[in-house]
This record gives sequence, C-alpha cells and structure tokens, in this order.
Amino acid sequence: MRILIVGATGTIGRPLVAALEGKHELVLASRQKSHEQVDLADTASIRALYKRVGKLDAVVCAAGEARFKPFAQLSDDDFEFSMRSKLMGQVNLVRYGFDSVNDGGSFTLTSGILAQQPMIGSGAVSLVNSALEGFTRAAALEAPRKIRVNVVSPPWVTETLIAFKMDPAGGLPAVNVARAYVASIEGKQSGEVISPSGGN
Ligand SMILES: NC(=O)c1ccc[n+]([C@@H]2O[C@H](COP(=O)([O-])OP(=O)(O)OC[C@H]3O[C@@H](n4cnc5c(N)ncnc54)[C@H](OP(=O)(O)O)[C@@H]3O)[C@@H](O)[C@H]2O)c1
Repeated sequence: MRILIVGATGTIGRPLVAALEGKHELVLASRQKSHEQVDLADTASIRALYKRVGKLDAVVCAAGEARFKPFAQLSDDDFEFSMRSKLMGQVNLVRYGFDSVNDGGSFTLTSGILAQQPMIGSGAVSLVNSALEGFTRAAALEAPRKIRVNVVSPPWVTETLIAFKMDPAGGLPAVNVARAYVASIEGKQSGEVISPSGGN
C-alpha cells in the first residue's frame, strides 16, 4: 500500500512509521521542510499536499494541536486555533482527500482519551476530540468507493507523560498505540473509534 502519514515525526508517528516501513510505501508529512510539508491549520497546504503526492491507498493523521488550559483562561483564539488545527485540519484531510485515495482505501484520524474522560483544562481538547469521533462515524457512511474512515483515540502515551513529568504508570507505550493505527489501515472496519490497549 502507498500510505501518507501526517505527523510522521511525532511521539505516535515515529513508532507508526517503524511498524509500517518495509511492508508499505510511505509518504511522510509534517510541517518540516525535510518531509512533504503540510500545515493542517492551512487549507491551501492540504490541497497542495494532495496535488503533489498523487494516488494513495491510505491516509493517516497523528497530528494536530488543541489548547489545554483552565476553562476560564480559554480564549476565543484558543478555541478557534484548536478547531482550525486538530479538528478541521483532519476533517479537511478527509474532505479533500477522497479523490486521491484508491477504491477500498482508508483514512485513520486521531482523537484522544479526553473525549471520553475529560479533566480540568481539557475544554477545547475534549470538544475537538469528541467532534472528530462524530465526524468519523458520519463520514464513513458517505465515503465513496468502499473507502473506510476510522479514528484512533489514544490514551495518555507513556513517553508523553514522562516528557510532561507526570506519573507514567497509567500510560500506554507509543509502540502499542501505533498498533491500533496499523489495525485500522490493514483491517476492514469503518466508522469506528479505536481505543488502543496493551493487547493491540
Ligand atoms: N501523546 C499523547 O499522550 C496523546 C494522547 C491522546 C491523543 N494524542 C493526539 O495524538 C496526536 C499526536 O500526538 P503526539 O503526542 O504524537 O504529538 P507530537 O509528539 O507533538 O507530534 C506531532 C506530530 O504532528 C506534526 N504536526 C503538529 N502539528 C501539525 C500541523 N499543524 N500540521 C502538520 N503536522 C503537524 C509534528 O511535526 P511538526 O511539528 O514538524 O509539524 C509531529 O510530527 C495529537 O493530535 C494528540 O492530540 C496524543
């Protein structure tokens, strides 16, 4: 398969690339110039990416930002930024990407645990993650040519908890999270919210 991975250099993206390389042809993307350059927050750059990379069998996104702040401090700009980057960036990857994906291909997006288990500070992140899950169920219904659409909802990743100096005990290693994306790309399911676990 020819697979576009947006967020290829990230905590989740790196083990995902490692799990897929050798088996599939990978097109790696992020905001860095050393890759196929794309900014999810910039609609023109998504359209330009699809124009450059040509036909694909799968599009995976492990990228996009949303602001984490106490509710009273979340500004209009914080909500707008979060929706433009992580939410609409991934929605637009699907909307603009259908014509680039071959029959029976797939999209795999990323939401996150804060959709289902909010915490203090997650107002914008929980909004965006929940919206992505609703969008995925609806987009899967209308996707043409047997194209599948799924979203992976990662729990806290162990490496991220360590980087944030938080207790890593409740985290899942990124390598386990990456397996859930591989299952979405190589499997048959569509319209699903996939929650990675140690057994994936
Ligand atoms: N890590 C966790 O614990 C966790 C838990 C639940 C959900 N998630 C979600 O999973 C996704 C990936 O998380 P992560 O921890 O792997 O993040 P990360 O380590 O910060 O990596 C993010 C990746 O996405 C790219 N990226 C960021 N913003 C982008 C943009 N606007 N356009 C294109 N590429 C962009 C980054 O590269 P450049 O900076 O070069 O663009 C990098 O490759 C995020 O949406 C996050 O909310 C993460």
